[in-house]
Amino acid sequence: MHLPPHPILSETSIFLQAERISVQYGETRALKDVSLQIPTNRVTVLIGPSGCGKSTTLRCINALVKLSSGVITYGDESIQNMNETELRRAMGYAIQSVGLMPHLSVEENVDLVPRLLGWERSGRAERVKRLLNLVRLNPEVYRNKYPHELSGGEAQRVGVARALGADPPVLLMDEPFGAVDPLTREQLQDEFIHIQRQLKKTVIFVTHDIDEAIRLADYLVIMREGEVVQADTPANILASPKDEFVERFLGPDRSLKRLSLFTADHCCIQKVPSGLEEPTKSVLPEDSTSCYWQVDAMGHPIKGFMWVNGRLVSRVVNSASHTVQTYSSLRECMATILSLGLPAAAVVDDEGRLFGEVRFETIQTISIS
Ligand SMILES: Nc1ncnc2c1ncn2[C@@H]1O[C@H](COP(=O)(O)OP(=O)(O)O)[C@@H](O)[C@H]1O
Ligand SMILES: [Mg+2]
Repeated sequence: MHLPPHPILSETSIFLQAERISVQYGETRALKDVSLQIPTNRVTVLIGPSGCGKSTTLRCINALVKLSSGVITYGDESIQNMNETELRRAMGYAIQSVGLMPHLSVEENVDLVPRLLGWERSGRAERVKRLLNLVRLNPEVYRNKYPHELSGGEAQRVGVARALGADPPVLLMDEPFGAVDPLTREQLQDEFIHIQRQLKKTVIFVTHDIDEAIRLADYLVIMREGEVVQADTPANILASPKDEFVERFLGPDRSLKRLSLFTADHCCIQKVPSGLEEPTKSVLPEDSTSCYWQVDAMGHPIKGFMWVNGRLVSRVVNSASHTVQTYSSLRECMATILSLGLPAAAVVDDEGRLFGEVRFETIQTISIS
């Protein structure tokens, strides 16, 4: 039996497919005839209340749980017929909410799977370095640390680096950012998006946090009591929730949530008035509605200027908290705009240099369209 393909699959292929899978734990029917298609090189997010079967679905895909009925096919083959080596090659190694080895250093943790797979030692040290840089941990600082010396957020980053260690074709992530504070969580999400843009992996990501799901998902699967209620792009689900359960699950602020679907680079204006000096009337005419960004010698924005009722008003830009990246969500841009009181947020590149700006008026058009 083949399911009709989902529209998101018109841009890519099916990585794997679950057809009417059920799982029974004693009396509990953890999954009831779940059918799912996982798109290749996209992020699929499984979400739903606790106990709805998210982790069980991941464990089925990883063949850690036996199906009571149904099949999961990878390529043309049912994974139930594949031997462990074949399956490992196909699925890679999954991470289940971090679980770093406490007696191994950061380097040894990240190197764990490549070492188990018997990769050449020479290339591995270089690879660990690259992976740590990718998750923005300085290898010189972190390589020899042990898990108990890391903050929650740092441990999660090492967990992501380790999951990427052997370059698996699919990443299974079960609430990977569950145990950290909201700010760290948002940073980890930013980094996840940043990494995913470079690597374009097939990812199956489990969460119970709807904001996280909407931000990260290309394909969002909403589950309830062992069943799939709605599966679609976040934009389509936000625009037309299938029933009252989904509507309640999305919460009352659906239009704000929509802003988290778009990133700064969608509407970033690149040619903005800027310079090393404070602005003169010739660079920022009094009737101008745009911002002027003063930058330092490195190109980092240090102040934003605008005209308000014939007065030139400026705000000091603190690089860490008052700027956004190209991959920041419009929701974050909105928060930055509100916190600085300027009509735009400065967008900076990886080195913190001014890249452009996102304007309030642009966000406004998007949120009502
Ligand atoms: N090993 C197990 N033995 C018995 N029941 C289980 C086991 N694992 C999960 N369950 C039950 O199966 C259902 C789905 O669990 P799970 O997939 O872990 O949910 P979620 O990850 O969405 O919170 C729950 O009712 C849970 O109590
Ligand atoms: Mg779970």
